[in-house]
Amino acid sequence: MTTLSFPFLRAMEKPKRSINRMETPPPLAQLPENLSAERVLEVQHYTNRLFGFTITRPASFRFRAGEFVMIGLRTAERPLMRAYSIASAPSAEALEFYSIIVPDGPLTSRLCQIKPGDEVLMARKATGTLVLDALTPATRLFLVSTGTGFAPFASILREPETYAKFKQVIVTHTCRDAAELRYSADVVNALPDDPLVGEAAAFHVMRYATCTRGSCQRRGRITDLMQSGKAFADMGIAPLSPAHDRVMICGSLGFNHNMQALLMRAGFTEGSNAAPGEFLVEKAFVG
Ligand SMILES: Cc1cc2nc3c(=O)[nH]c(=O)nc-3n(C[C@H](O)[C@H](O)[C@H](O)COP(=O)(O)OP(=O)(O)OC[C@H]3O[C@@H](n4cnc5c(N)ncnc54)[C@H](O)[C@@H]3O)c2cc1C
Ligand SMILES: NC(=O)c1ccc[n+]([C@@H]2O[C@H](COP(=O)([O-])OP(=O)(O)OC[C@H]3O[C@@H](n4cnc5c(N)ncnc54)[C@H](OP(=O)(O)O)[C@@H]3O)[C@@H](O)[C@H]2O)c1
Repeated sequence: MTTLSFPFLRAMEKPKRSINRMETPPPLAQLPENLSAERVLEVQHYTNRLFGFTITRPASFRFRAGEFVMIGLRTAERPLMRAYSIASAPSAEALEFYSIIVPDGPLTSRLCQIKPGDEVLMARKATGTLVLDALTPATRLFLVSTGTGFAPFASILREPETYAKFKQVIVTHTCRDAAELRYSADVVNALPDDPLVGEAAAFHVMRYATCTRGSCQRRGRITDLMQSGKAFADMGIAPLSPAHDRVMICGSLGFNHNMQALLMRAGFTEGSNAAPGEFLVEKAFVG
């Protein structure tokens, strides 16, 4: 068989994404005690409404995989801050975030313009419910996300403790179209080369990606695909059961409610930092 090479087609399959690296940062000004001023290191745009970036990490900043932190920008009046899930591993040198661009959004309409060397403000404390400590022991961990709700799961997938606690990790990501699934594909595809989790992740992580409006390999809302059993049949695994599974949910309000209801019908009980349980929920955004 002859293989024809069409460079322009290859370029269409793998759209060129802009990656900028930091050069020499200018000095930083003073800020209130609860915030630190960090520097943008790298920015990567995925679609016209999704981008990722990394910032410097203060030496004293600690977080658990799956937690979020307030980040933002200076304005003339006061710092403009929003909640963001941290996508990097708790041991990483830099902090990674994955962001929506809301065209008229107070923060993201400006945040989408950041370049390496620019300033991003960050709160000194992280918090959140999507943490491994809030789940009771089991065999499989399901990380079920829509849209930017995948971000906290990038951190959990990069955390070695995940693989010490669970034999199999199934991450699902559902977006409107295929281009919006790119970030989760990049994160999961890079796991086998990760020096901390590579060996475990290569054998124990399964990604199940679906889209609901455009054309992609698998179509449908994950709630419907789990309800009908198709998701489990596609993956060749047993359906969800509180006997062997734990679940984390992160997406829009409607998705969170539907997924929560599905789990409760299957007999799962919700956990929290104070009382570990069988599933956990966090909003990917408010509204
Ligand atoms: C716990 C928590 C964690 C979060 N983590 C992230 C994250 O990792 N990445 C991220 O991009 N956002 C995240 N958000 C949302 C984030 O806090 C902001 O809402 C977002 O950055 C938009 O800010 P804005 O000021 O531009 O618009 P806002 O005024 O905050 O939002 C305007 C409207 O845009 C829509 N919207 C906002 N955020 C999103 C989103 N992420 N996906 C789809 N629609 C959205 C909603 O309809 C909202 O009412 C998180 C929110 C919470 C509560
Ligand atoms: N300007 C643009 O180009 C553009 C593009 C996309 C979104 N937006 C806006 O951005 C905001 C967020 O959009 P988003 O796509 O990130 O988030 P979203 O609307 O929550 O959709 C993300 C994924 O979750 C699915 N989903 C939504 N509700 C669900 C539920 N109750 N149960 C199960 N699955 C559910 C969606 O399926 P369905 O497709 O079936 O709903 C979609 O595949 C919205 O206000 C939207 O109007 C703008």
